[in-house]
Amino acid sequence: MVTLVGMQANFEDALKDLIELDYDAVEAYDAAINRLENQEFKEKLNIFKADHEWHIQELTNVLKKRNIDPPSGPSTGKQWLTKGKVVLANLIGDNVILRAMISNEIDTNTAYERISLREDMWSEAKDIIRRGLEDEKRHKKWLENTVLEKSEA
Ligand SMILES: [Fe+2]
Repeated sequence: MVTLVGMQANFEDALKDLIELDYDAVEAYDAAINRLENQEFKEKLNIFKADHEWHIQELTNVLKKRNIDPPSGPSTGKQWLTKGKVVLANLIGDNVILRAMISNEIDTNTAYERISLREDMWSEAKDIIRRGLEDEKRHKKWLENTVLEKSEA
């Protein structure tokens, strides 16, 4: 399922859902890191996870400055990601786990792309969203390259 984040009626709601998506992503990264065997992959995913934590912090500040209550944790029941933490926690094999994480990066890329194109974008959020999109593109590219290398080996 492709995530619906970014399609909300107003920018405020879209931003709230994006923050929840980032929280969901952090949980999925945690589950993946727990299941991975390759130390290098674990370290890389830890760095990517930190990017998501940074997105949460920056986007949360945008809402707070406008006196809007930000989400304080993952989505409840909405399941923004195709391969959430529950799915990840049950996977076995590094390549299988990395492939599942690619699905999630597709979701986060879609969400960041959609929100970056919104006409009702708040000016102070523009750079944060742009950098977030760049991070997600980078995460997806690394995963795709790594899965490819592993398949060829
Ligand atoms: Fe990511």
